[in-house]
Amino acid sequence: MTPLNVALGERSYPIDIGAGLLDRAGELLGPRIASRRAIIVSNPVVAGHWLAPLRASLARAGIDAQVVLIPDGEAHKSWDTLHDLLTRLLELQAERSTTLVALGGGVVGDIAGFAAAIYQRGMRFVQIPTTLLAQVDSSVGGKTAVNHPLGKNMIGAFHQPDAVLIDPDCLRTLPAREVAAGLAEVIKYGAIRDAAFFGWLEGHVDRLLARDPAALEEAIAVSCRIKAGIVAVDERESGERALLNFGHTFGHAIEAAQGYGNWLHGEAVAAGMAIAARLSQRRGALAAGDTARLVDLLQRSGLPVAAPAMPLERWLKLMAQDKKVADGAIRFVLLEALGWAVIAGDVASDDLAAVLG
Ligand SMILES: NC(=O)c1ccc[n+]([C@@H]2O[C@H](COP(=O)([O-])OP(=O)(O)OC[C@H]3O[C@@H](n4cnc5c(N)ncnc54)[C@H](O)[C@@H]3O)[C@@H](O)[C@H]2O)c1
Repeated sequence: MTPLNVALGERSYPIDIGAGLLDRAGELLGPRIASRRAIIVSNPVVAGHWLAPLRASLARAGIDAQVVLIPDGEAHKSWDTLHDLLTRLLELQAERSTTLVALGGGVVGDIAGFAAAIYQRGMRFVQIPTTLLAQVDSSVGGKTAVNHPLGKNMIGAFHQPDAVLIDPDCLRTLPAREVAAGLAEVIKYGAIRDAAFFGWLEGHVDRLLARDPAALEEAIAVSCRIKAGIVAVDERESGERALLNFGHTFGHAIEAAQGYGNWLHGEAVAAGMAIAARLSQRRGALAAGDTARLVDLLQRSGLPVAAPAMPLERWLKLMAQDKKVADGAIRFVLLEALGWAVIAGDVASDDLAAVLG
């Protein structure tokens, strides 16, 4: 097992990573569930695979766990689903001391986390992520949200979990396309922060796609260590945390243009990272060889490296709706080398036109 910690003073919490940990959830989480009462939030797909072992483990630790299922899919990451979940919590007479346990991908984690942030002004919350994307990204860092028809993740709160428990075995049942989409975020960590990890990924991508347990645990642990380190110094994204948005400004525009769910988030981020690398190269900041290595690794992961054609005005409009806009200016995360990202607010429109055209 790889134990990590997100260092946020009295809101610090552990991230435990290891194959088979779901069966030890009661033992590991038990000490953090003082009220002995938990409500598991999941969806029918994930529950069909992984609810029974989680419930059994919690029961062995003397924790009574009720279950609330929400519908599957990004389209249901909505105010209506949140409202229904809050209604169920009231019907079940959940208390502030009750622990909400999110068992699922980023959609379940983001909605359950937001419900935990606002139910009775904040209840306890544990993340058990079951997609690669959620294991390396969304379960760590305390961002919670639902989508609004006018914008993705626009309604939300920062609410850190009490613990994150990651069992790479859960990925055995994940569709291959979702594994590849999660790999996009893993590659992102190497690209922005850790050249050695990027090199390791180049050597291990085939094993990761084949779901080799040791390779997965290593990739998840390094990713979580990088994210935890960044969150610890910039919890509310006033500086360094923005680097985690590498590829996301372009990616969110692709997702919005294509309709959420047609392109997976990780696929859009992959194409966005390739575009950001080409933009970095065009500005003279990134060597052509580094752009080629990033594009090659994304392609070997089965990910897209180009966006669907869109007029420049449409790109600009969609990117201007992104949360990463500050004082009306779009800020781009660019690379100076593999392993070193910077923020740029001064990107010329002809450079943008050249890489988006
Ligand atoms: N909070 C954050 O910091 C943060 C960061 C990145 C992304 N996100 C959000 O995460 C969401 C995307 O998350 P996602 O990629 O995990 O998508 P998801 O939650 O929709 O899961 C993808 C699909 O896989 C299924 N699934 C989940 N685990 C499974 C398993 N073990 N076996 C079989 N099927 C399984 C789900 O039911 C779903 O159909 C987006 O809404 C995005 O905005 C949040």
